[in-house]
Amino acid sequence: MALRNIRTEEDPILRKKSRQVEEIDRRVQTLIDDMFETMYDAGGVGLAAVQVGVLKQVIVIDTEQPGEKLVLINPEIIDTQGEQFTPEGCLSIPGKAGYVRRPETVTVRAMDRNGTVYEKTGTGLLAKAFCHEIDHLSGVLFTDKVERYEEEEEV
Ligand code: NI
Repeated sequence: MALRNIRTEEDPILRKKSRQVEEIDRRVQTLIDDMFETMYDAGGVGLAAVQVGVLKQVIVIDTEQPGEKLVLINPEIIDTQGEQFTPEGCLSIPGKAGYVRRPETVTVRAMDRNGTVYEKTGTGLLAKAFCHEIDHLSGVLFTDKVERYEEEEEV
């Protein structure tokens, strides 16, 4: 495993759309391992492959709650309920946090690292992470949706 360089806000790759993964090969497995290592090193809850410069629909999430260490390949949101309005940040936008309106409960369908399709429902932080990371796959950053910044507060 290896740490990868996290791309930051001014890097135009963050605005590009990620492509679907056709085959979960050795390179994708290494990418997943490296993404977890990079995310833990940076103290994040989620990371999308585009943030390490790879335009593939791969996301890792770990909220540190039971059952919430997840790999999402080619994910889609299939249901949302409710609303939350809490601060969030992004490893690609260090030092900024802001309030974004997100659903309180989100159900996704994705493949795990073995290619098995699963569905998972998350609330609170996990629901927020699903939305935030899946936005990355479309080149969308939380700063596009923020309603109010928490200035000079780090997340
Ligand atoms: Ni982010």
